[in-house]
Amino acid sequence: MSKNPNYIGGERFNKLSKKDGYRSRAAYKLKQINKLHNLIKQNQNILDIGCAPGSWIQVLKELTKGKSSIMGIDILPMSKIDGITFLQKDLLEINDQDFSDHFDLVLSDIAPNISGISVTDSENMIELLNIEIYLINKYLVKGGSFLAKCFQGSSFDHLKNYLKDNFDEVIRIKPEASRSSSRECYLLGKYKK
Ligand SMILES: C[S@@+](CC[C@H](N)C(=O)[O-])C[C@H]1O[C@@H](n2cnc3c(N)ncnc32)[C@H](O)[C@@H]1O
Repeated sequence: MSKNPNYIGGERFNKLSKKDGYRSRAAYKLKQINKLHNLIKQNQNILDIGCAPGSWIQVLKELTKGKSSIMGIDILPMSKIDGITFLQKDLLEINDQDFSDHFDLVLSDIAPNISGISVTDSENMIELLNIEIYLINKYLVKGGSFLAKCFQGSSFDHLKNYLKDNFDEVIRIKPEASRSSSRECYLLGKYKK
């Protein structure tokens, strides 16, 4: 086995997710973020963008004891989770008919397929972020929160600038379950203006 601490860290959360019955180790990223920032509450309308295979939805159901309304979107199919609304669709093809309500909390763990060419990857991430921003402007309630994955670099700067203009608080988060070798991080906008 590799002695690389990042590998060991990743392995640790992979093993833990199997033991705890989560569909992926991403579950621990959301749990760690929520422990620090207390975003997830009962009686919320929650949107999870890029939700497959569904571990964030499992965490949402667990923490709200099934007492929130949860909608997930992913381009890939997802095995059924009772009591949630799942829309299998490319985020880039989303339209207003896909939404019938406003959200109190919007989460996004979406990432484009990584090509390894950093300019292309950043452009693809920004394209997805721009759709997320459209949805936030239109469907997130005033006072609501938005948590989104991005990558250190131009997509991070793009999202941070938007959040600074539109939310009272902006926080960068690198959860322990996110490999330290990865450029992935999360930005949280709290209290939409
Ligand atoms: C890191 S995974 C999300 C893991 C999820 N948070 C969980 O806990 O199970 C990112 C997801 O984004 C989805 N995705 C990527 N591009 C997409 C697009 N254009 N439209 C919708 N979903 C997309 C992928 O299919 C993938 O399931």
